[in-house]
Amino acid sequence: MSFENDRKEILERLKIGKEMIYLSKEQCENIGLSTKEIIGLVETALSEHGKKNYDMPAKIGVHPQDKSFFHAMPAYLPKVKAVGMKWVGSYPDNEHEFALPQITGLLILNDVLSGLPIAVMDSVWITAMRTPAVSAIAAKKLHENAKTFGMYGCGVQGIEHVRYIQETLSELEEIYIYDIKEEAMDNLIESVEMKDGIKIIKGKSIKELAEKCEVLCSATVILKDPLAAVKDEWIRPGQTILACDLNTFFDPKTSKRADKYIVDSDTSHQLLDKQGYFPDGLPEIYCETGEIVANLKVGRESSDEIIVCSNIGMAVCDMVLARKIFDIALREKVGTILPL
Ligand SMILES: NC(=O)c1ccc[n+]([C@@H]2O[C@H](COP(=O)([O-])OP(=O)(O)OC[C@H]3O[C@@H](n4cnc5c(N)ncnc54)[C@H](O)[C@@H]3O)[C@@H](O)[C@H]2O)c1
Repeated sequence: MSFENDRKEILERLKIGKEMIYLSKEQCENIGLSTKEIIGLVETALSEHGKKNYDMPAKIGVHPQDKSFFHAMPAYLPKVKAVGMKWVGSYPDNEHEFALPQITGLLILNDVLSGLPIAVMDSVWITAMRTPAVSAIAAKKLHENAKTFGMYGCGVQGIEHVRYIQETLSELEEIYIYDIKEEAMDNLIESVEMKDGIKIIKGKSIKELAEKCEVLCSATVILKDPLAAVKDEWIRPGQTILACDLNTFFDPKTSKRADKYIVDSDTSHQLLDKQGYFPDGLPEIYCETGEIVANLKVGRESSDEIIVCSNIGMAVCDMVLARKIFDIALREKVGTILPL
């Protein structure tokens, strides 16, 4: 459909320039997108990113508190006619200080042709879904036959990662989980329905997961000083590491010596390096995750390669979901229409 016809369709239900839709977290969540649909949408965004059919600068940020940050994440993804920006905050101490989530935010979606805002929506659910979708897609591309998956961090992301990874790794037999909080592991086990034949196991230590799992994933905290909680000497040939928390949880030495260090966004990683998130320097980047998804670059070439894939989060993945949610909300009259 042309941009003009797409705009006409929106105009049938929304007076662009005079009003916009507000969607809460619950409304986004209840819009009815399945895990499979989300993976498909995010795959499109990654593939378009790999083919360079997008406009998305590195995410700039401000840092009001010691460990916190806000990122401004604008993107334009022509394939799905989506343009907008996510404004996301990360406050790692929120849970114990205020009983509030670590990751929060809002997303603005705009009309591509006139630029006017057409929606403002909570972005917590979108972030919680698109991040594990990226990891699950990357896992399939880089380690399709994995039988074991290890998840460090059993919060919002850990829970969704365990859910999503079961959709893409078809030979999976065991999922090990680890968190410093016992109750977070119990909550994950209670929250996620496991597919037949896949066992979920509470790990006793960080080392146990590193020893037992072919694919390892971390979603804990993002800090400028690496925790290096997964020791480099525990990592062996053939493993795939998917880091959602940048350079924090795995020993940076592993990324440096990996056969392939893949990142979702080269420019974002370069900027984060300048901001001090890679105190020992940014490893040499092999390619971007989207290039692997679009089959423009080869992923795993041998069974003993160590591959690290750092996905710090891209606004193109947020926009593809936001636009889908907007379309359904408009059609089904979900959300609150607000005057501009
Ligand atoms: N890459 C992305 O696109 C993306 C998107 C969203 C969140 N994140 C990052 O993922 C991480 C988790 O986000 P979330 O929303 O799930 O947060 P959350 O607070 O819900 O969960 C984090 C979990 O990690 C655990 N944890 C913290 N330190 C740990 C340690 N040293 N060892 C083991 N477990 C530890 C906590 O106990 C908690 O259960 C954050 O760093 C966040 O910035 C990345």
